[in-house]
Amino acid sequence: MEPADYEIIIGRDPAEVSRFAARLFAERVEHAISTRGSFAVALAGGATPAGLYSTLATPPYRASIPWPSVHFFWGDERCVPPTHPDSNYQMVKEALLMKIQVPAENIHRIPAELEYPQIAADTYEQTLRMHPLLGGRPFPRFDLVLLGLGEDGHTASLFPGSELLHEKERWVAAPYVEKLSAHRITLTPPVINHAFTVLFVVTGNSKASVLAQVLESEYRPDQLPAQLIRAEHGSLYWLVDRAAASRLARFAAQI
Ligand code: 6PG
Repeated sequence: MEPADYEIIIGRDPAEVSRFAARLFAERVEHAISTRGSFAVALAGGATPAGLYSTLATPPYRASIPWPSVHFFWGDERCVPPTHPDSNYQMVKEALLMKIQVPAENIHRIPAELEYPQIAADTYEQTLRMHPLLGGRPFPRFDLVLLGLGEDGHTASLFPGSELLHEKERWVAAPYVEKLSAHRITLTPPVINHAFTVLFVVTGNSKASVLAQVLESEYRPDQLPAQLIRAEHGSLYWLVDRAAASRLARFAAQI
């Protein structure tokens, strides 16, 4: 991945990364609302972004962000009920949604509890295609897609070796993930890459090796799916802490 393809921002620690991410989120909200009148975001799951969601639920953001103009979607979901501790929806609900004034109709969770994962994916794809902010075009253009990075190089639920990595038409899919022995529901690469802004949030020593591989080793997206992600019509940011950046050759002297 060429440095010109993205901007990397390094925070001292996860708390500073969350503060930086919240500021960027608020800036993107302001820009989207001033230019398009609303803001559609696809949220990341996992543990890392919880700090961002919690920060958005505190001053100044809780009162300063015009939440009724913000439309929440998810980048991926585990195939569990929305009340399950593994649910990405549940994580966001507890960290943010229960603490802000956002209309229920602005919250579009993935119905991953449905018995058949493919029906859940098809249902969510219709939700996106029917939504006035996203539908009516070859691919939706989210104002912001938030992403994490797995130690194996996956992002959203795009895992190494998946045929989804070559998807060119579908918006939402239900891959079976061998290593998890479970299905997931996920946005596809072209949907993510059509976003106005894509923001990876990556922290911790455990991600240092994979981050260096994704950003500084040869392009091999079948092994490192995060390398597929490009903001083809906008901006791509990697917001990382010093621990995650510690193996990056570009910053070796600074960290
Ligand atoms: C999920 C996420 C997944 C996550 C990475 C990193 O549903 O788990 O979409 O892609 O971002 O696995 O997870 P952590 O932030 O917990 O390290």
